[in-house]
Amino acid sequence: MIEPSQAVVTTPRRPKAVDVAEARAEAARLGCRYVERRSQGWEKLVETTGARAVLAVAHGDRALWLPGMTVPWRFHGGMAVLRIRRMIAGVEPDPFLAACDVRAGDRFLDCTGGACADALVAAHAVGEGGHVEVIEASALLHAVTGHGARHVRFGEAPIDAALSRMHVTLGDHLEVLRSLPDRSYDVVYFDPMFRETTTAAPGFDVVRALADPRPLAAEALAEARRVARRRVVLQDRKTGGELERLGLPELPVMSRYAQVRFGGLVFA
Ligand SMILES: C[S@@+](CC[C@H](N)C(=O)[O-])C[C@H]1O[C@@H](n2cnc3c(N)ncnc32)[C@H](O)[C@@H]1O
Repeated sequence: MIEPSQAVVTTPRRPKAVDVAEARAEAARLGCRYVERRSQGWEKLVETTGARAVLAVAHGDRALWLPGMTVPWRFHGGMAVLRIRRMIAGVEPDPFLAACDVRAGDRFLDCTGGACADALVAAHAVGEGGHVEVIEASALLHAVTGHGARHVRFGEAPIDAALSRMHVTLGDHLEVLRSLPDRSYDVVYFDPMFRETTTAAPGFDVVRALADPRPLAAEALAEARRVARRRVVLQDRKTGGELERLGLPELPVMSRYAQVRFGGLVFA
């Protein structure tokens, strides 16, 4: 996990005054060093600062670059956009939604935000009266996804509507869960980092580099059980062993994604 203290915040190559002001404010909020761009390329910035990650902040934009990347990572909805289009076209049910039994009007808590692909799919499924709250422990990931949920819009009405129903909070899910009342969300969902690497979805290498790698703690599961009205769901690798470690039965969901399975507790 790359900490904010190991990253620098800068602006685009030719910043406006508003970009500089926003970048300085974001650096202060994150506890990152602010560096003037001075038209430097990504590699040069890393070379001169020794940073492990560079966050370029402009008014309305966040771009994160790690050494080795060809293009910086922005919040783009990724596979979620394709999954929502497939749902709208009625092509096939989404295994994640089936596992979570997401219904219209639900309050859905995603305890492991990552790139927020699952959260965005859930935000589409809960519809107008629903809400998706997302918790993410990595400050740098949250800087991009939290900003994206608030400001990025794709010009595709169902996806933009879903984004407006999603809110991303920076924090440790155990602490957030402890602060929540009993039965305050319909579904509580966990998708922690796998211990072994898998074929990465687009944007996932960034998530892997920035993410909190801890496996799900039994305490967090116990809190989720208290907070959920209908279901607690955990995504695991087919051979991950996490469902067995935490004593969760596998949910009978047909998954196209051969590498994953879902388990959980069903209350209603
Ligand atoms: C596999 S990714 C989730 C991917 C996500 N479902 C998606 O569709 O993009 C796991 C994420 O959970 C975050 N995470 C791990 N432990 C956490 C914790 N205790 N609290 C909050 N977030 C956590 C990691 O930083 C990482 O970003």
